[in-house]
Amino acid sequence: MGAHIVLTQPIHADQLERLRAGGHRVTALESPRGLSAAELADACRTADVLICQLTDQVERRVFETTSLSHVATVSAGHEHVDIAAAAEHGVLVTHTPGVLTDATADLALALILAVTRHLLWGDRAVRRQSGGPWRLLHEPMGLDLSGATLGIVGMGRIGHATALRAHRGFGMKIVYTARRPHAAAEADLGAVRLEPERLLAAADVVSLHAPATAETRHFLNTATLALMKPSAVVINTARGSLIDEPALGRALQRGVIAGAGLDVLENEPAAHPELLAAGDRVVLTPHVGSATARTRRAMAAMAVDDVLAFLAQEAPAHPVPGTGRKPPR
Ligand code: DGY
Repeated sequence: MGAHIVLTQPIHADQLERLRAGGHRVTALESPRGLSAAELADACRTADVLICQLTDQVERRVFETTSLSHVATVSAGHEHVDIAAAAEHGVLVTHTPGVLTDATADLALALILAVTRHLLWGDRAVRRQSGGPWRLLHEPMGLDLSGATLGIVGMGRIGHATALRAHRGFGMKIVYTARRPHAAAEADLGAVRLEPERLLAAADVVSLHAPATAETRHFLNTATLALMKPSAVVINTARGSLIDEPALGRALQRGVIAGAGLDVLENEPAAHPELLAAGDRVVLTPHVGSATARTRRAMAAMAVDDVLAFLAQEAPAHPVPGTGRKPPR
């Protein structure tokens, strides 16, 4: 007999079809927003598998009050899933690492260029005809990336892919923080590992690539922002919780640092008013690091592959370590 799979938000039709073709009953909730823990607990009472996204709140009560054996999140990050509770209840959690590396690193570079070359100012100047004719000393001057220093905070897959693009494509020097040395980045890119304080003081561009944990929360705050050069900019394509957003907004308004490019926010989709008050110094995008057609398709396919493997009693390829002992019913 097939399993009962609850799918919170829409995924690609062909992937939905693969689940149904496997003989499983799929409840596609088609929610236009993330679901609360209460809503998930209600929807999954008799379900075997939950396929969720990063806006769904898969809290402890979901594991305590349902019959779930597998939670597959269509995302690399899994901080919206209570992993400790999943492990306690023997529930497997899978995620989608790796496939969004290139798309997210591309967006990090897009934000670096947008901030350091004042693209918001430029776009508005043309649309409003407010820029005036070309003059040698008129425009806001940008940063030459060639020879500038990029500080990568968290040299994982995406941090490395960003460093690679910045070094090989733009001639940037690379410094980084990481728990362990990254041999390939050091050998191929000449990357130098530094303590966070030294990295912040040395970098012209600081790009965040660490996961959201209690340890990384507010990595950038009033005190650490003050260590950066007044000409430096910060880029965040990782998670909003890495930055104390009002503190960053104030730092930008007061010229403590020069700019920011943020794809992620502390309380998505809203930006803190202090950040908005920084005007053109901050470029904002709505968590679109993985939003390319190929990448989003690969994420959905990876989650479905793992669900079908689990239900066929095979080992899914992308488990979150420590989760899953309960076999499918
Ligand atoms: C993820 O999968 O964790 C990304 O943030 C989605 O873009």
